[in-house]
Parts: sequence; C-alpha cells; structure tokens
Amino acid sequence: MKLGKVDMSPHEKRVLNPGESNPQLSYAYNTGSHYEGVLNLTAALDALIPENDVLHPEQPFFQVTHLVTEYSWAHVHYELRRVIKHLDESRYTAAARLIDRSTEVSRMGNMGVKLLLEHLPQHSLLTMRNTLPQDATGLDSPGYRNLRRIAKVLWKQFETAMLRESVDLAGLIQLQNDTAGGEPASSQVEALALVREALLRLDACMMEWKQTHLRMVWSQLGGLPSLRAGESGARTEDETLPVSLGGRPISGVQHRSDKALFPALWSAAEDAYHRLSV
Ligand code: HEM
Repeated sequence: MKLGKVDMSPHEKRVLNPGESNPQLSYAYNTGSHYEGVLNLTAALDALIPENDVLHPEQPFFQVTHLVTEYSWAHVHYELRRVIKHLDESRYTAAARLIDRSTEVSRMGNMGVKLLLEHLPQHSLLTMRNTLPQDATGLDSPGYRNLRRIAKVLWKQFETAMLRESVDLAGLIQLQNDTAGGEPASSQVEALALVREALLRLDACMMEWKQTHLRMVWSQLGGLPSLRAGESGARTEDETLPVSLGGRPISGVQHRSDKALFPALWSAAEDAYHRLSV
C-alpha cells in the first residue's frame, strides 16, 4: 500500500516544550514513524506555538480550540464539495449521508467554543487578548469565509436537483406527511426531501456555533444586550459597549448570529407554517 506523503529518512527529534528540564515531561515528536507520516502529524504539531514563544499560559488552550475548529471546518468544506458532486449526479441519498457527516464533524467547532465558554477564566482571556495584534479578527477565519462561499454553490446545486425532479421546497416538506395516503413519491424525490432535512440540520448546527460563540463573547467581553435595553426594550448602542480587537462593537457578533447559510430553507419553514396553521 502506498502511504502518501511518508518520508522515512532519519528525523531530528523535536519537542514542544524545549524549556522543560525534566526529560520525562518533554513532549517529543518527529520520530519518523509511519503514524506521524501518514497523518502529516509532524507538520500539524509544528503549528502549535512552542512553549518558549507562548505569551500567556492560556494561549495554547486558546490556540488549540481555534485550530480544532478550523480543521473541522476545512473538513466540512471537503465533504460539501463531494455533496455538490453527488447532487449533480443525482445521488441524493449519498448527498444526505455526507451532509449529516459534515454536521457531526462541525460539532468539533461547537465544542471548541463551549470549552472556552466554560473553562477559560475571563481574567486570563482579557490579559492574553492584550498581547494579540490589533484586528486579529475571527472574521478572517478561512473556515468561516470558505463555508459561506461553498454554501452558495451547494444551494444552487440543490435547486438544480429540485428542478430536475420537478419538486420545490414546499413539495418536499409536504411529502413528509406521515399521515398521507395516495401515490407514494418517487424514491429520488423522497431522497431529496432527506437532503433538505440534512441541510437544515447542518445550518442549525452552524447557527448553534454562532450562538454559543456569542454567549462566550458576552461572558468574556461583556455586551449582553438586555443590560442596555431602553424602556421600550429596544437596544441602545452606547460608548461603553465592548469592542472587538479591530474596534468594532460586539453587537456585530449578535447581528450575525442568526444569519443562515441557506436562508431559503428557513423561509420555506415559515411559508409552511402559514400554509398549514389554522
Ligand atoms: C475567548 C475566545 C474568543 C473571543 C473573546 C472571541 C471574540 C470575537 C469577537 C469580538 C468577534 C467579532 C469580530 C469583529 O467584529 O471583528 C469574533 C468573531 C468571530 N470569531 Fe471569535 N472569539 C473567541 C473565540 C473564537 C474561536 C475559538 C473561534 C473559532 C474559529 C472564533 C471564530 C470567530 C469567527 C468565525 C468570527 C466571525 C463570526 C461572526 O461574528 O459572524 N472565535 N470573535
């Protein structure tokens, strides 16, 4: 079996914590093993900030939670490209299966922000943040940006598939009526209905990430809107509202927190509500 990028030449041992005086506590890697080679793990561990360069003791925790999220989003992007191909070639069941896998993979990112929400002391975060460059903003996250871009292509492909099968979103919702009798829908249309459901689960999961991230931002930086609600309940922006490293008010995170990857799915849900509510 060919193992890809495996280089079996002698390797110089590397350590993540070169300042550690007890050899038993040193974190050694780059052993030249197939394990590191097959996974490209040496390069991945090289990405971790060496302990000597760490500016704050909590920086490794902060870095790992970001990296895990970026890795999981990069993989979601990989799977969604396969989904686009499956949809293009009318393999809807395979598409639904990979969308569901993508949703579960993306949960690693949700876990990342939950870890920070629950286990990063605020004092540490604030003092560490003071050492970061101005405008080191999550808005530049490659995972975040590329997922938004691929979602548009994926959606177009899904629309093309609906056209091909002569069905629309309302039809896909309608057909999952467990009490209906009559002619069964074609298995391709049934499978497309499962794709719609899977896309909705994926979108809801990404929204969950944003909403957990938002709560984490409130707990680490402040800016909970209800603290500033005027008498009418309307939020009033004020000069004391915390800002991102780039100087943008925290309220931006909240405004983006319910932005969907596939807005048409959510409109269709609302349309169904109006159609079916008495
Ligand atoms: C304690 C940790 C964190 C704090 C205090 C924090 C804070 C913030 C702030 C203030 C913004 C708004 C940026 C701006 O307007 O320029 C933001 C956006 C963002 N952050 Fe974080 N963040 C943290 C952890 C994370 C993690 C672990 C990730 C994972 C990749 C992440 C990814 C993002 C993304 C993708 C955005 C843009 C999302 C949006 O607002 O629509 N952040 N973050």
